[in-house]
Amino acid sequence: MSVEGKNRVMTTHRLLEMKRNGEKIAMITAYDYTMASIVNEANIDIILVGDSAANVMAGHETTLPITIDQMIYHAQSVMRAVKNPLVVVDMPFGTYQGNSKFALSNAIRIMKESEADAVKLEGGQEVLESIERILCAGIPVMGHLGLTPQSIHKFGTYAVRAKEEAEAAKLIEDALALEEAGCFALVLEKIPAELGRKVAEKLTIPVIGIGAGRHVDGQVLVMHDMLGLTNNFSPKFLRRYANLHDECLKAFSQYVEDVKNQDFPNEKEQY
Ligand code: KIV
Repeated sequence: MSVEGKNRVMTTHRLLEMKRNGEKIAMITAYDYTMASIVNEANIDIILVGDSAANVMAGHETTLPITIDQMIYHAQSVMRAVKNPLVVVDMPFGTYQGNSKFALSNAIRIMKESEADAVKLEGGQEVLESIERILCAGIPVMGHLGLTPQSIHKFGTYAVRAKEEAEAAKLIEDALALEEAGCFALVLEKIPAELGRKVAEKLTIPVIGIGAGRHVDGQVLVMHDMLGLTNNFSPKFLRRYANLHDECLKAFSQYVEDVKNQDFPNEKEQY
């Protein structure tokens, strides 16, 4: 698919080409204008307006409470900043499970009100009818299998998924069904690397991993985790590229001290 007239460099068609050429795909989450502007400058391929906003932006324990209005607000903020990457928006919990007509109207709302490029849904064959209906309306869909955080109450834990043969076989079946339905890409979260490799080899669409090993077609990380803004979350798969928690704490503490000591503002910092 191409987004003619929008000058968008990244398209779902280009992502397929990248997979065919063995070029790795870099994806990251973003939720606001300022950070999305920086990500845009960094030549990222895909921005995910993830429902992880419920955790890192709003402080909820799970992703379940975030609403479609809140997701649209985050997506609109990101879209104002973004020129090149493809922007994918998570459909929040309760907006697509069980009723495919409701799913379609929610996907249309996200696309119309945010002007993003695609939506992402968690789950396999259980949500296939919703995925097919959304695709019929011409909306590109990214799938998400493995650890699907919207099902945390069913799983009961954030541990690695599909270590057992039966769950791995179901995951492969689901991945093939999502490709067959017409999804343009698939996220695999927290599964054994060998299973990630197997799925990436079986599918022609790009497979993007988060804790799914090095043999998939691309990687995604949650921005706040990879920047080290969160310091209470250290899964094995996470590489921290900065320690912004400590940097921010240092800056805030220095500011408080400077105000209290009447060091800020100084002569040059006033009119
Ligand atoms: O919401 C999110 O950030 C996600 C990623 C973990 C893939 O779905």
